[in-house]
Amino acid sequence: MERIPEPELMEEKEQVISYDEADFSEGEVNLINQINHYLLRKDISLNEQDLIVDLGCGPGNISEKLAIKWPNTEVVGIDGSKEMILRAEYNKSISTNQKKLKNLSYICSDIKDIKSNNFLLKKRISLLVSNSLIHHITNLEDFFNTIKNLSSNITVNFHKDLKRPLDEKSAQGLKAQFSTKYNEILTNDYYASLRASFTFKELKNFILENDLSSLDVFEDGNKYLIVYGNV
Ligand SMILES: C[S@@+](CC[C@H](N)C(=O)[O-])C[C@H]1O[C@@H](n2cnc3c(N)ncnc32)[C@H](O)[C@@H]1O
Repeated sequence: MERIPEPELMEEKEQVISYDEADFSEGEVNLINQINHYLLRKDISLNEQDLIVDLGCGPGNISEKLAIKWPNTEVVGIDGSKEMILRAEYNKSISTNQKKLKNLSYICSDIKDIKSNNFLLKKRISLLVSNSLIHHITNLEDFFNTIKNLSSNITVNFHKDLKRPLDEKSAQGLKAQFSTKYNEILTNDYYASLRASFTFKELKNFILENDLSSLDVFEDGNKYLIVYGNV
């Protein structure tokens, strides 16, 4: 199936509300556990000196979970959509875990414009994370350039995204499955995301062709891909 890119930012209010109101918690908890296992395997523990950045943080679901899981670190969520950042700030303000989110802040910026010396990124990034972001980026090069610019030799990267289905029939099957749980706006967004996603081969080839061999790609079941490692 050929890739059909979708708009990078999620800026429409209805789209943002639908996304925010949906329950993706199972996948989110799963991702936090995957990151935790990866860090344990690498014998890395995160403390006061560490900064975690969540790229394309949306309404902050992952950012909040990172902030709670690693309470001594500083966590910054970045999204280019004002609507999403407003939502993330609002969610933080009404969270029952508010006291545990003092280490969390947000920046509204396109990830391509963010610099590692941004005054809000006071330290080098220890953990650079994203969930469901890569497929939004029109050119793969922009995603990899961003993580390269933001990473130092201490930065662990962990980026999870959808995997593009093999053909239209499989995409329609996944869409039908999704529609039993989520509303029409979200289902259409999900279908657009599936078509905009990359394949294992595309990500792997990019890494090999661009001398990024400290990064790797992992197929997580039949729906997801994870780009992980150092840059
Ligand atoms: C599908 S949402 C995922 C949100 C969140 N990571 C989560 O897992 O709940 C993708 C988010 O990436 C943001 N995004 C896409 N391209 C971006 C870019 N170039 N710069 C900053 N944010 C971007 C969108 O605005 C949207 O909020």
